[in-house]
Amino acid sequence: MRRVIIAGNWKMNKNISESMELANSIKRALYDILEIEIVLCPPFTSLSDVKEIVMDTNIMLGAQDVYWEKEGAFTGEVSAPMLKNIGCEYCIVGHSERRQFFHETNETVNRKARALLKEGISPIVCVGERLEDRKAGSTFAVVKDHVENSLAGITRDEIPKVVIAYEPVWAIGTGLNATRQEAQEVHKYIRGCLSAMHDEEIANLVRIQYGGSVKPENIKELISEPDVDGALVGGASLKADSFVQIARNCIG
Ligand code: 13P
Repeated sequence: MRRVIIAGNWKMNKNISESMELANSIKRALYDILEIEIVLCPPFTSLSDVKEIVMDTNIMLGAQDVYWEKEGAFTGEVSAPMLKNIGCEYCIVGHSERRQFFHETNETVNRKARALLKEGISPIVCVGERLEDRKAGSTFAVVKDHVENSLAGITRDEIPKVVIAYEPVWAIGTGLNATRQEAQEVHKYIRGCLSAMHDEEIANLVRIQYGGSVKPENIKELISEPDVDGALVGGASLKADSFVQIARNCIG
């Protein structure tokens, strides 16, 4: 069985003291939860302080981006060994905001994912169509392109460490979530792509999260779909109450 994974992507929010307060509140409410996996992805500046807080709990730490080289003259960048050193178990790559605002491509996403895997960090690889893609009927083609090219060259052994986040761009920060049927349809398709790239057995081990306006009110129905294995939560992860409720709604 795939273990449900709920990750909070704090994006460019929360200074250090705000991050610590949020992490502490989440820890108080969720430290004893074993049924599902919880990941907090604060900005780089708060990673170390949040790690201190979640250290001996089941709450995992994730970063929001990485650079693929190990070290060197790459001003402003942070490497996978650095994230490892700070205690990250996960790192988001290829978020649509990075694809849109920072020229992220499948090729750079792929380099980042592979660099993370080398350090034993699980990449959370984001894929998903824009509204115009959906309207043009090219959702599956876009998602296939993202999955195949972002995961190119990742071996069969490594694939179960990868988490895929299906985030339809039109659902991010809009309050408009994909329906459970829309999510399931694409998640199933993504699993089919993984199966074609490797085989069904390995595809069945990969967790596929849904992201885009996830709230306490809609998580239960999304998670009840067979190929929806968790959520990557943006806005609702910035308040302890809503994030904790999302996690709790996934249990039982
Ligand atoms: P929202 O939950 O705010 O729609 O953001 C989703 C997202 O981008 C998570 O990575």
